[in-house]
Amino acid sequence: MRFIIFEWLTLFHILKFSHGFVFPSFMDPDTGKQLYEFLESHNWVYENHTVVSPDGYHINAVRLPRARGEIPSNKKKPCILLVHGYASQPQLFMVPLNNSIAMMLVEAGFDVWIMASRGCVYSLKHEFLTPKDAKFWDFSFHEIAYYDIPAYMDHIRNVTGNEKISYIGHSMGGVLFLAFATIRPEYLKRIDSAHVWGPIIYNNYARSIEEKTWREDERIQKGKIKGDNEWSRLKMWLAIIFCNTKSPFLEKCMASQDGFGPDRSQIDKEKFIVHMTNDPSGSSIKTYLHVLQINQADRFQFYDYELFRNLQVYGQFKPPLYNLRSISGKIPIIISYGVNDYFAGTEDFERLIAEIPGAIGHIVPWPFFNHVDFVYAKDAKKLLYDYCVRMSKMYATVTEA
Ligand SMILES: *[C@@H]1O[C@H](CO)[C@@H](O)[C@H](O)[C@H]1NC(C)=O
Ligand SMILES: *[C@@H]1O[C@H](CO)[C@@H](O)[C@H](O)[C@H]1NC(C)=O
Ligand SMILES: *[C@@H]1O[C@H](CO)[C@@H](O)[C@H](O)[C@H]1NC(C)=O
Repeated sequence: MRFIIFEWLTLFHILKFSHGFVFPSFMDPDTGKQLYEFLESHNWVYENHTVVSPDGYHINAVRLPRARGEIPSNKKKPCILLVHGYASQPQLFMVPLNNSIAMMLVEAGFDVWIMASRGCVYSLKHEFLTPKDAKFWDFSFHEIAYYDIPAYMDHIRNVTGNEKISYIGHSMGGVLFLAFATIRPEYLKRIDSAHVWGPIIYNNYARSIEEKTWREDERIQKGKIKGDNEWSRLKMWLAIIFCNTKSPFLEKCMASQDGFGPDRSQIDKEKFIVHMTNDPSGSSIKTYLHVLQINQADRFQFYDYELFRNLQVYGQFKPPLYNLRSISGKIPIIISYGVNDYFAGTEDFERLIAEIPGAIGHIVPWPFFNHVDFVYAKDAKKLLYDYCVRMSKMYATVTEA
């Protein structure tokens, strides 16, 4: 054990202090590549965008305006916004490249926008705060839903002249869409369709051990855990050492994903390290607490500050609800879930779907499909993306602003 620690510490220092370190050739060429390096190494056509939210966060996104080799033209395309899950980041939608949802959408004729949510490594700037300020981390998915999604919709409209967008959100990216749909109804009519992947709102039937222990953890319940970005890039170096295809620890490393629902058969061993080096990225602890509160209260509610503070903030003792019924069939919302998602059970997903008037439930046709298979699974194209691209296309419009 001492040797292992020594080994990774040494490697960490080598990697940290040597720019342009070349990973051994048996490691996937995307290993250790950050978002922009990754895009550039594949000659992907992309643009950087930054939008400043009304509360001062600089929210970045990459835009994939056209496929490689496609000649730029003035023809307007339907736009789609992709939003990643808790503590994740945009690259998740692009690995493995050719069978990724991002590339499939680009090739299907979409103008693709992938947001880096506030707090993830690619969106850490603020007008006057820095990530060192506790205040910087004082946000939940609520603020992303309330400020960032509308800000991006306006920005996309300004840039493309297209009034409408389609949407895909994984996990938290889906949960926050549902919140958005209830608190920003004026924007809802500018959505063509939305795909919500594995939203964890109710989780009475969760099987994840972590989820259960977190539920009972008093520090978490009382919100006493340090409220900042606790994830570190160190994880990346650990992944490189332990999760490479030649590592004797690869099986253990893959087992670390079992908490999402065991599905080793869908893990692509070559690409696994790429995901492990990038995720988790970062987000606020408050976001996590908010989700736990929702799980525990068993109601889809605003952040709970507890009685008197609630009275100050909301004018009532109990946090208000995100009223899913108010969405009332105005737009197509497709909720995809896996029956082996350990963060929530089929009963939980079905209950949620039943509460959203007109929502379409979609069970991913693979009995072991888990919470991260949406973005990690080897066969995601066949099992999920083909369907999502087809459905998004069906509803997509180009509406002049
Ligand atoms: C996008 O931003 C990154 C990080 O600031 C930079 O390295 C990259 O060159 C930019 N790419 C383009 C196309 O502007
Ligand atoms: C992905 O597709 C491009 C062009 O369609 C091709 O040149 C490239 O070799 C493919 N990459 C992989 C890893 O299959
Ligand atoms: C969109 O354009 C309008 C009008 O020019 C401007 O007021 C607004 O700030 C822009 N919004 C974004 C998010 O870029």
